[in-house]
Amino acid sequence: MRSHTTFRQLEIFEAIARLGSFTRASEELYLTQPTVSMQMKKLTEAVGVPLIEQVGKKLHLTPDGRQLAQATREIFSILDRFTMSVAERRGLKQGQLSLMAITTASYFAPRLLGEFSKLYPGIEVSLRVTNKEQVLASMADGLDDLYLVGQPPEHIDVVATPIMDNPIVVLAAPDHPLAHRKKIPLDRIAAEPWLMREKGSGTRNAIERMFSGHGLNIHPRLELGSNEAIKQAILAGLGISALSRHALALNQPGQFAILDVEGFPILRHWYAVYPAGRQLSVVARAFLEYLLEHGEPPRCRRRSSDRPAHGSEPALPHPRRTPAAARRHY
Ligand code: PGA
Repeated sequence: MRSHTTFRQLEIFEAIARLGSFTRASEELYLTQPTVSMQMKKLTEAVGVPLIEQVGKKLHLTPDGRQLAQATREIFSILDRFTMSVAERRGLKQGQLSLMAITTASYFAPRLLGEFSKLYPGIEVSLRVTNKEQVLASMADGLDDLYLVGQPPEHIDVVATPIMDNPIVVLAAPDHPLAHRKKIPLDRIAAEPWLMREKGSGTRNAIERMFSGHGLNIHPRLELGSNEAIKQAILAGLGISALSRHALALNQPGQFAILDVEGFPILRHWYAVYPAGRQLSVVARAFLEYLLEHGEPPRCRRRSSDRPAHGSEPALPHPRRTPAAARRHY
């Protein structure tokens, strides 16, 4: 192979080999399709033999392509091991990690932080769970290492990495008359008495956008300031609501009915966010890696078990820099 094969070309090739599609590889790597095609053309020229062939609509690796895919995976995993061992030596024996999470993220953030601290007992961790306003204020002042939010801010320049799916599901008491109905129309559910989170809640915004997008209004019967209060009110038969599926993390299956409503679940994501331009500490980077490996990976992203992360900042997948880009996903 000639020397001008680049790491980026190998990365693109590996994604195509794994996903079986130029389109999906370009989506995963946040590249345009023409860039992906051009880089593959250059790689094939550099290697000097065909690597991928198209039969009908399907892509196949040639025998040489398969060998290169294997070699590429090995290279990436060696680099990942190297990066991790350097990071561990440098910072993970001690150090500090300061996190802030928006209210609903409290259903998964403490668990993941607890597991991470067991792995790295020398690290001093702090987590504040608070409302959107305070998260934004702290983010603007750059007070914490990472912020776990359901919606990257629009007016602050941040790097936002999707770390988990955050589906918003419609919940009712298990004996609710709609509990076993299939494909409940949106206008039917809009007519129910709704229990809503407070104004400014990301969950509430997502629900309101969904209904207003269909020209419907919902009329909150009660407005309650926490997911737990909403759940109690649902069980008391006061109405229905829609919450992040994560809000059911500690509930027994069957304790609530998840209604089969057209347009639901609303597919959102959790993001780990930090101000653009900030260099993440080794500890914060390791925690972000941990979130990606041990949270539920978002469906838009590759599963971490498919291949180790790599890149010029090897421990991270492809964070999105601009708020506009981050907004695409909710
Ligand atoms: P929240 O959750 O409803 O507690 O604000 C954050 C979000 O889902 O954006």
